[in-house]
Amino acid sequence: MSDRFYITTPIYYINAAPHIGTAYTTIAVDALTRYHRLRGQPGFMLTGTDEHGLKIERVAKERNVSVRAFAGEMSVPFRDTWPQIDCHFDHFVRTTDADHEQRVAEIWERIKKNGDLYLGAYEGWYCVGCEGYYTEKELDAGGLCPIHKTPAERIREQTYFFRLSKYQDRLLDLYERRPSFVQPTTRLNEVKSFVRSGLEDISVSRTTFSWGVPVPGDPQHVMYVWFDALFSYLTPMLATPERKAFWPAKVHMVGKDILRFHAVYWPAFLWAAGIEIPETIFAHGFLTVNGQKMSKSRGNTINPLALAEAFGIDTLRYYLMRAVAFGQDGDFNIADLIGRHNADLGNALGNLCNRVLKQTETVSEGKFPEKGELEDLERGLLEELATGARAAADAFDAIQPNRALEAIWQVVGATNQYIDRAAPWAAKKRGDVRRASTILATALDVLGAVSTMVWPVIPRSADAMRAQIGLEPIKVGSKDVWPFAVTSRRAGEPLGVAAPIFPRIDAEREKQLMADFGPVQEESAATTTSTSTSTATSTSTATAIPTAPSTITYDDFAKLDLRVGVVLRAERVAGKDKLLSLSIDLGEPEPRPLVAGLALSFKPEELVGTRVVVIANLEPRKFGKGLVSHGMLLAAGPSEALSMVTVAEKAAPGTKVK
Ligand code: MSP
Repeated sequence: MSDRFYITTPIYYINAAPHIGTAYTTIAVDALTRYHRLRGQPGFMLTGTDEHGLKIERVAKERNVSVRAFAGEMSVPFRDTWPQIDCHFDHFVRTTDADHEQRVAEIWERIKKNGDLYLGAYEGWYCVGCEGYYTEKELDAGGLCPIHKTPAERIREQTYFFRLSKYQDRLLDLYERRPSFVQPTTRLNEVKSFVRSGLEDISVSRTTFSWGVPVPGDPQHVMYVWFDALFSYLTPMLATPERKAFWPAKVHMVGKDILRFHAVYWPAFLWAAGIEIPETIFAHGFLTVNGQKMSKSRGNTINPLALAEAFGIDTLRYYLMRAVAFGQDGDFNIADLIGRHNADLGNALGNLCNRVLKQTETVSEGKFPEKGELEDLERGLLEELATGARAAADAFDAIQPNRALEAIWQVVGATNQYIDRAAPWAAKKRGDVRRASTILATALDVLGAVSTMVWPVIPRSADAMRAQIGLEPIKVGSKDVWPFAVTSRRAGEPLGVAAPIFPRIDAEREKQLMADFGPVQEESAATTTSTSTSTATSTSTATAIPTAPSTITYDDFAKLDLRVGVVLRAERVAGKDKLLSLSIDLGEPEPRPLVAGLALSFKPEELVGTRVVVIANLEPRKFGKGLVSHGMLLAAGPSEALSMVTVAEKAAPGTKVK
């Protein structure tokens, strides 16, 4: 198998502007391309627009504009949007490109010569939304398209058929012999059972409209859009010998909605044309937005650029790649996004960088510190890095970006824990500058490795982080630079200036962002939540803002003993999905045991080292299994997207909060 990595997004229809759904696929493809480039593989990323077909012709006619001009205009937002969220394609194909049309016509002729295209008459059902044919039994009750829930149209016309039925056994054999051809496995099983139920020849030309690639030698026919569009993965790659070397594609990334076209039609078309088939079709799941199905009429098809502007490109990219198990359906949830920005990016990674750099300023005047003898703590951390780097690489290789990020954040958590335990400030205080330097140098080395590993998903922040720790921006070439082990740096190398990479989203801003991007108020919900002050939080899926409790006296407030605490240890509680068992330094002789419902929002290791606010005089509460909580932490938000109330490092454990 060639080392080259050719990967594609679907070639998007131009009837809708780019949205979270298409951004999701495109970001995933960009991240995978970047990962393989880090591994020293030549990469090629293709995206583009699918511009032919009845759907586009109809809209252009409705608007009274030329279809070609309309297509040209509607393609622009795609070409323009992706680079603005750092998705850098190597080629942007338009199915209306002259060279594509010419090459696809040649391929048509080749398949016709091979005998897999023949003229016949088609009568059946067609959904314009899908640009897809349906049999009667595939339609929902009332003759509705199972995907769009709109009435399918009856069509009856002369057409060219593609002999798909001929390929049934070969397809089943392919799925058996190369199960990785369709991923994830659950999707493979769906495809298998579809093919097993019997394949009929499919209609691949139309005569009742003209917006398509003309069929060679029979110009009253235009090619079926899917025939034309699928080949747009191939035609740009025939342009030069260098590009030809990228074929067959490693991965066609698609949403589950268009898997059948890719896993059944596409290999059959390629076989018929005598062309090698791709290695993998990966079908990811579908996203809802704030718990609601995305739809133009609901007005929740958020523009990715607006999100990038509000939250930062990398927060958007990180959230999309981290929040949903890749391959499964998931929810794009603004409250959750804010929670992850603050917790994973701001707290766990950003603060770590900041802490290490600030300490380094005091120990070695902003230069890379001199490393002395390594102790067990350092060895432990370096082992964590080796394990995390391996796990993250395996996950990227398996097209599981969310798991890759989990593995990388495991290393981030371990580094935070390392700093807490190794306590360079204490070493410095007792005059052991050599030890403090060793600790900080080790942490900086690990941060360097982390900055490389996060680059596929958050390239800007990775480079910003590298500038702060005195490293060049990531450069890819033919060398594998994945940090399976740290590269030790030389003492005295200059470091950059510490600055927050992921500024915290505070409560005020959160409120604004929820109003701008949170759940859309539905008609029915509006009438039942008339007391709510925010349109953003008033649907059934959102957390309604509770009405303010009646006022209390200052004396009531003074009864609360609020204290600054530092999380020393955090662990999951077996059999309790929501709970974490914590040990908190409240400046008391012994750490306080606390049990808190944080597990849906935080990984235990992310919390270690966090400066939290604790209600220290709350009566003890039992949680079963001998677990007793001696206090409570303050946090805001729903239990699956909590933001922790934290305080700056200046406040020592035990400081009263008033
Ligand atoms: N033009 C065809 C593809 C031809 S490929 C040779 C097409 N275009 S599309 O514009 O409708 O894009 C569909 C793709 O957009 C999905 O397969 C998926 O990648 C992405 N998504 C659209 N909505 C989505 C969600 N709600 N969630 C996740 N991805 C979604 O089909």
